Amino acid sequence: MSDRSVDVAIIGAGPAGLMLAHLLRREGLSTVNVDSRLEEKIRRTHRAGILEHGSVEMLSHEDLNSRVLSEGHRHDGIDLRFGGQSHRVDFQALVGESVWLYPQNELFHDLATAAHRHGMDVRYNVTEARPMDIESDSPGVYFVDEGGTPHEIRSRYVVGADGSRSVCRASIPEGLRRHYVSEYPFAWFGILTEAPPSAPELIYARSPHGFALISQRSADVQRMYFQCDPETDPNSWSEEDIWAELQKRVEGPDGLRLKTGPIFDKTVLKFRSFVCDPMHHEHLFLAGDAAHTVPPTGAKGLNLALADVRVLAPALAAAVRDEDERLLADYSDTALARVWKAQNFSYWMTGMLHQEPDENEFNAARRLGELRAVVDSQHGKAFLAEQYTGWPDTPASAV
Ligand code: PHB
Repeated sequence: MSDRSVDVAIIGAGPAGLMLAHLLRREGLSTVNVDSRLEEKIRRTHRAGILEHGSVEMLSHEDLNSRVLSEGHRHDGIDLRFGGQSHRVDFQALVGESVWLYPQNELFHDLATAAHRHGMDVRYNVTEARPMDIESDSPGVYFVDEGGTPHEIRSRYVVGADGSRSVCRASIPEGLRRHYVSEYPFAWFGILTEAPPSAPELIYARSPHGFALISQRSADVQRMYFQCDPETDPNSWSEEDIWAELQKRVEGPDGLRLKTGPIFDKTVLKFRSFVCDPMHHEHLFLAGDAAHTVPPTGAKGLNLALADVRVLAPALAAAVRDEDERLLADYSDTALARVWKAQNFSYWMTGMLHQEPDENEFNAARRLGELRAVVDSQHGKAFLAEQYTGWPDTPASAV
């Protein structure tokens, strides 16, 4: 039953797992990825759309042949809208950085296509995938392939990049693992619509009716969200009601009108802030949503997953090639330092822009004060811009 052996076995073939495999391949390490989903299903999953400059750099490597720079759109700012008025946060002017609008399904397409091209070992549609013997010197993964044949692949290290419902996480003994969780009393109702863009940049709008985000996908497809009750059934909303709700939340004296069109996708996205500490136990390492999730307001989820593997890949390479495990020993602390900054940013943006279901008048007015304190100050806007566009990998305090 024991097949081949590899340097690193990766459970998960989403963006974190595949990007890690690409980085390791460049370092000369052998990998296998196993994922319970069908490749086609991951390709069709609509998720986040904003990439930090650090994520774009990773994707721009020539061996990925990504279309991020040709098809993605550079955004040099966002629009914070409240009291019916827009306030631009100019990332370029404030911190000299930009973000790129490039949907996660496109990013997955690039990584999966490049994996095929380079002949990498990626097994989709498997069942029962789990880490084995992570406390021994010969760990590995067990899974059953799509034909029903069980496999064991031995490796030097195992990486759990298996998403928010991670199986790998449970391999860290309970007594050594701490979970930090924060729940929210609202969710996002997300739509995809065939319509022209309503604005050149993303609009994050706070209104007395709740939050709305006007995002984009292309010249003729747009992505928009509005705050809703987490129990909302997306099919209970008609197109007419959705447009009325979105419009109400961006209304203002400047007469902003959303450009409407047929809606072809409706989903309710639940919010959760979650951190698993540590992200490492013996020969197992967690990356991406397996170790942490953030609410989508700061667009940090995918970027954090990519930041994890940016730290993990050279650490695994040093351990396999040079028998030097020092970087691996630091991985969890290094990754968690960024994770907690992103947790704070996502929580802050979420609180500032959403309306609590039972929000009192004081807090509703105070939130407007908070937004004003940001947009009326160069320092306030620069703080937001620095966080939104992404921190450098080495924090200033460490150098
Ligand atoms: C998106 O376009 O899907 C998107 C953009 C920004 C966010 C969240 C989602 O903060």
